[in-house]
Amino acid sequence: MKTLLIGGGGREHALAWKLMQSELVSDLICAPGNAGIAQICGCVDIAANDIIGLLALIQREKIDFIVVGPEDPLALGITDMAQDLGIPVFGPSQAAAQLESSKAFMKDFCKRHNIPTAAYDVFTEIKPAKAFLKTLSAPYVIKTDGLAGGKGVAIPETLAEAEAELDAYFDGKFGEAGQRVIIEEFMHGEEASFFAITDGKDCVSLIAAQDHKRVGEGDTGPNTGGMGAYAPAPIFTKEVEGAVMKDIITPTVKGMAEEDIPFCGVLFAGLMITNDGPKLIEYNIRFGDPECQVVMRMLESDLAELLLAAAKGELSKAPAPKFSAAPTANVVMCAKGYPGKYAKGTSIKNLEPAQESQDGVLIFHAGTKYDEEQGLLSNGGRVLNITAQADNLKDALDQAYAAIDQIDWTDGFVRRDIGWRALK
Ligand code: AMP
Ligand code: GLY
Repeated sequence: MKTLLIGGGGREHALAWKLMQSELVSDLICAPGNAGIAQICGCVDIAANDIIGLLALIQREKIDFIVVGPEDPLALGITDMAQDLGIPVFGPSQAAAQLESSKAFMKDFCKRHNIPTAAYDVFTEIKPAKAFLKTLSAPYVIKTDGLAGGKGVAIPETLAEAEAELDAYFDGKFGEAGQRVIIEEFMHGEEASFFAITDGKDCVSLIAAQDHKRVGEGDTGPNTGGMGAYAPAPIFTKEVEGAVMKDIITPTVKGMAEEDIPFCGVLFAGLMITNDGPKLIEYNIRFGDPECQVVMRMLESDLAELLLAAAKGELSKAPAPKFSAAPTANVVMCAKGYPGKYAKGTSIKNLEPAQESQDGVLIFHAGTKYDEEQGLLSNGGRVLNITAQADNLKDALDQAYAAIDQIDWTDGFVRRDIGWRALK
């Protein structure tokens, strides 16, 4: 089966690594890929949001199956267009992708189907928005409706700061996306990222991981795409998993089908584990990054078989996915300055010796490129994923950091406290 994987981050390197282990995959092409993915399969320099370029590639290469990594091509309708060509796609339709691309859709959907989430209201005008703020207590949660590159969420501590933030949203801080604003109740608890696969009718649970969103140690500083992840998360007990499947995932799959927008793909539930049980913060319609790298290292079953069964609506016929119990971590190495301004094109050396020095370490590339003369270069904010697997989480993290200390990249940095919740 000639397979196309769309995307070029650490998530896609992990997906490519796992897809290449499947006997079902005879040939894998990745668009656009990165320097690490290019070591294991062919890469084509077409951006993940270049839908026209991707469709041409799909037809030219006679692709049999498509796996979509990031949300942009899904929100742009790549699945609908490829299905019109008769090609199975792992990833939801444009309409179903609204679960991530419109927070207002997601929140209203949860209300219709009784799915536990924070109380909220949606506003297109500043006056009623400010009046609603006054009915809540600090801290406040303010979000843009549309996609804002992961930056559209503000959590001001005081009413005055919240009002100033609302002014900025309506003054165009996020352009169009900021003209429809959601204000939510703040939920207290610990966060977890949970993943389930669905074909639109049936669903199976994968595992939960914990991300580290802030750039600084001790969860300080600005939000990032994610600085590291690990699994299993002690907070995510079997009881919590049962409640998430029963109260959140299953009603979502059923609700989407009832509303005639069946969701096929991976449901990534961003959860708050509160004293009243798990509640949904948000849905993403793709694997999390850096969580996916951990999930892929722990997955023992055939990924291609699972994703193809979901894409074809035959999930009930596929064997249930099996996971290793060995704790696994992923520490993200970033370019200095990230998530603000950072340099690209800085030299990275000694990667292979660093990986080979530790038994349980496997390095996935994110923003990297290869230059004939200069060798491996950084090409983004999040650049490398140092994953490690061991008998316990502490050993896995020690191995990851020991490998990191051997990587020769003066422009890189990591958070040194990945996994602190589980280790404490
Ligand atoms: P989101 O982009 O919706 O995932 O929000 C980004 C981050 O803001 C989440 O990972 C949470 O840490 C935080 N957050 C969002 N909504 C809430 C909420 N209602 N209560 C508490 N924290 C929240
Ligand atoms: N790690 C969070 C995300 O992928 O959105």
